[in-house]
Amino acid sequence: EGFDVMVVGSCMTDLVSQAPRLPKAGETIHGHKFFIGFGGKGANQCIQAARLGAKTAMVCKVGKDFFGDNYIQNFKDYGVNTDFVGQASDAATGAASIIVNDAGENAIVIVAGANMLLGSEELHKALPAISHAKVLVCQLEISPQTSLQALRMAQENKVKTIFNPAPAIPDLDTDFYRASDVFCCNESEAELLTGSPVSNVEEARRAGQELLKRGCGSVIITLGPQGCVVVEAQGSASIHVQTTSVKSVDTTGAGDSFIGALAFYMAHYPTMPLEEMACRANQVAGVSVQTVGTQTSYPLKKHLPAELF
Ligand code: RIB
Ligand code: NA
Repeated sequence: EGFDVMVVGSCMTDLVSQAPRLPKAGETIHGHKFFIGFGGKGANQCIQAARLGAKTAMVCKVGKDFFGDNYIQNFKDYGVNTDFVGQASDAATGAASIIVNDAGENAIVIVAGANMLLGSEELHKALPAISHAKVLVCQLEISPQTSLQALRMAQENKVKTIFNPAPAIPDLDTDFYRASDVFCCNESEAELLTGSPVSNVEEARRAGQELLKRGCGSVIITLGPQGCVVVEAQGSASIHVQTTSVKSVDTTGAGDSFIGALAFYMAHYPTMPLEEMACRANQVAGVSVQTVGTQTSYPLKKHLPAELF
């Protein structure tokens, strides 16, 4: 039997400092807490899907170092298949330096390291599994060519694709849109990709229509506390999906929680309307922002209301 969700993407060791605010250039400030966690957008999304009950596999590359060994154990602890997790001897496990302020906002610098060495060779080894998966998810913390190749492999085999263009690059190859069944990004990524401001629902609707024209099946633009906007090729009108407000402590990886949940719903409830999946994924991500940390804050199926399943 195939996997519900496969992620071809990144793993990072998150080095997180909590501070009252983000420092300015050249400034040193005191923070109040430091911790190391498992992160990287690809792995985060995979772990959230697994925590909701999806059968998952990760295709990625870590270093042959302490952080890489630990990361592989982390996948095993959550029941994520690691047959396609490689260890590079010539690059270190990716790292993310993260600062979280008292408002729960963050600033992140990633050094992708071994993530950039994931390429065609590894994809070819994973092809038999990819071709039998229900949903494939990619982001932009590995080489863009590898992401695009993975999306195409999935599409050629009628596997549903979710593409999360994060972190966004200004001149994204238009082939990415054509290879995406669901193109899902946040407001700042939508802004970068369209060149127009996206700070409210109206602007997100417009940006969604613009991105849709580039060739994807549907577009979701997440808007944090304002929920998200869903635009589908069939049925022209865009839908604003609202969310209930929560007190956010740490929004790091909330977008990944949303995408991991979306992948889970696409795999388990393929006929559910996309806006309903987005509504439920919003609720899952809403739980994650109420606790410090990234993967450790992602809810398990058993801790969520039964209506979500
Ligand atoms: O999206 C959140 C993630 O972005 C963090 O876990 C960090 O690793 C960066 O990749
Ligand atoms: Na969190």
